[in-house]
Amino acid sequence: MRVLVVGSGGREHALAWKLAQSPSVDEVHAAPGNPGIAMLGQCHPIRAEDGDSLLELARTIGAGLVVIGPEAPLVAGVSDQLRRGGVAVFGPSAAAAQIEGSKRFAKDVMRAAGVPIAETMSVARVPCVVKADGLAAGKGVFMCHTREELEAALRAVATLGDQFVIEELLEGEELSVFAIVDGSNVLALPESRDYSRVGDGDTGPNTGGMGSYSPVPELGAGRVAELVDAIHRPVVETLAERDTPFIGCLYAGLMLTDDGPRVLEFNCRFGDPETQAILPRVEGDLGEALLAAAQGDLAEVELSVSETCAVTVALAAGTYPEGRDAGSPIAGVEDAEALGALVFHAGTAVRDGQLVTSGGRILNVTGLGDTLEQARTRAYEACELVSFEGARFRRDIAEKAVGVAG
Ligand code: AMP
Ligand code: GLY
Repeated sequence: MRVLVVGSGGREHALAWKLAQSPSVDEVHAAPGNPGIAMLGQCHPIRAEDGDSLLELARTIGAGLVVIGPEAPLVAGVSDQLRRGGVAVFGPSAAAAQIEGSKRFAKDVMRAAGVPIAETMSVARVPCVVKADGLAAGKGVFMCHTREELEAALRAVATLGDQFVIEELLEGEELSVFAIVDGSNVLALPESRDYSRVGDGDTGPNTGGMGSYSPVPELGAGRVAELVDAIHRPVVETLAERDTPFIGCLYAGLMLTDDGPRVLEFNCRFGDPETQAILPRVEGDLGEALLAAAQGDLAEVELSVSETCAVTVALAAGTYPEGRDAGSPIAGVEDAEALGALVFHAGTAVRDGQLVTSGGRILNVTGLGDTLEQARTRAYEACELVSFEGARFRRDIAEKAVGVAG
């Protein structure tokens, strides 16, 4: 089968990398892809949101499956357009993607499904969290501990759009849990943790994600299937009952509170950079599993998970998350790979044969090992070998977990 991966980040590189290893996959294509993906297959200069051109491309290359990475094309209905054109797609319809695209829709579904969530507050009172309703690329969530922060948050959401929600501020460790879904059946993937703040010790502004690791020892081995049964399954059932069946990766962002897990959000896609730590641990044919999901045929599919541990560090532009960088030469990727690290491209380009920066998050370096400590050491050793002007990365990815795991 030929698979077309839609998107251009580190998540899409990791998906393309795993799909290229799948026995069911003969050729990997990407739109628009990136220089890392270009080493695995053919990249086509088509934007992820351009449904018309993607459909034409899928037909031209005879794609047996299209895998859509980012949320924007999903929320915009690119899956629907491809499906109407007779193409098998791993990725939800626009209607089901509202689980990420609209906080209100998500709350409504979660309440109907009876999953534990952060309670909505009818009056703005600190401590609380103020969230803009639509997609705001991680910039629409404001934690408010003081009145001043609350007032600033209310002003900020007013400039982003008209709708917002206020909810209780939860405390605890965060966890990302993904499941592959075919509309009714769910298949759990290994859990991971993501680091959304830019600075060490969870300081500074929110980002798309500065690092990740898997497994998460605080969760306890084998517990991820329980979480998926308690959280993903009822949501998938509720979406199906509402005639908006979910086909794709359903991502639950959870907080492990003293009162048990609570859902902070659902996303309608694989997480970035969690995917870069999860997929190296998945064994079996990912292409077959995603195709089965796209065809509503996941019931018999299994994917086993290796004992390997993975730690992913995002190397970002010096001005990220406010800014991005373009055109700075990148050195040392081959050296990092020679150490055994996986280097996923997130915001790179090739100019005159030279790999250069082109984005906010530039590369994701994943270290693997028998323990999280070993994976972490290997990831950071590899990071030290990669350089570009202004590169910044967090030094504390998986640090606490190494302590927990002992
Ligand atoms: P969201 O886009 O809703 O996932 O929010 C982004 C980030 O804000 C989450 O990953 C959490 O770190 C944080 N967050 C969101 N909602 C809450 C909440 N109710 N209590 C505490 N932290 C939250
Ligand atoms: N790592 C956070 C996200 O993918 O939304």
